[in-house]
Amino acid sequence: MMRVRFPPPAFLSPIPLLSPSRRLLGLAAALILLLGTALPAWADFDLPPLPYAAEALEPAIDAATMTIHHDRHHGAYVANLNAQIKANPALADLSLEALQGRISRFPEAVRNNGGGHWNHSQFWAVMAPLGQGGTPSPELLAAINGSFGSLEALQQQFSQTAAARFGSGWAWLIRRPDGSLAITSTANQDNPLMDLAGLERGTPLLGLDVWEHAYYLKYQNRRPDYIQAWWPLLNWNEVNRRFQAAGTTA
Ligand SMILES: [Fe+2]
Repeated sequence: MMRVRFPPPAFLSPIPLLSPSRRLLGLAAALILLLGTALPAWADFDLPPLPYAAEALEPAIDAATMTIHHDRHHGAYVANLNAQIKANPALADLSLEALQGRISRFPEAVRNNGGGHWNHSQFWAVMAPLGQGGTPSPELLAAINGSFGSLEALQQQFSQTAAARFGSGWAWLIRRPDGSLAITSTANQDNPLMDLAGLERGTPLLGLDVWEHAYYLKYQNRRPDYIQAWWPLLNWNEVNRRFQAAGTTA
């Protein structure tokens, strides 16, 4: 059997005479090597921080719900997705968004946790403290009027769709490939970017989480009350940005 030869312990080696700058370079290289071996290569997805304080959306969404929702639920999706990279190395080469469009090639655990990570990341960004979310841009408003008749009609249809989602899932406002807007709903952690049969695809402009973990502490079984309280928190500035970006990539 071939034996691996290890160098003699450092304390037996002659101390090389290196200049201070070369010693610093050596230390830096050793540190990089150490970090490179200490960090798992598959820790590619990160939990984004909330873009505001946990209590910033009160009273509509209480701080305890926000903290548990973000830190534990979203955090678990990220951790579970990272745990899948070892078994599915192709994940390491995909951005989170690119993964959504290829999700059918992966096992259910990747679909659930990859979807959960993307869905929640967009969800935090589409809310803002009261009075800070702006208003729909003239371009977006024109598209809303063209597809729904009015902003009020969009809100009513969206709220009904969100309330009617059986079990856990999401309500979405999407931009279809033809430029029109539509309201859809997905189960569990699916979303309109996923290449799944029976799912209407489009660019999500806005997604509302209607899992019980998003509202149960404050609203218990009253999902419609949560939806109604959520509308004033909508970050129209972010919806405007997504609408504009979708138009340039269509
Ligand atoms: Fe959630």
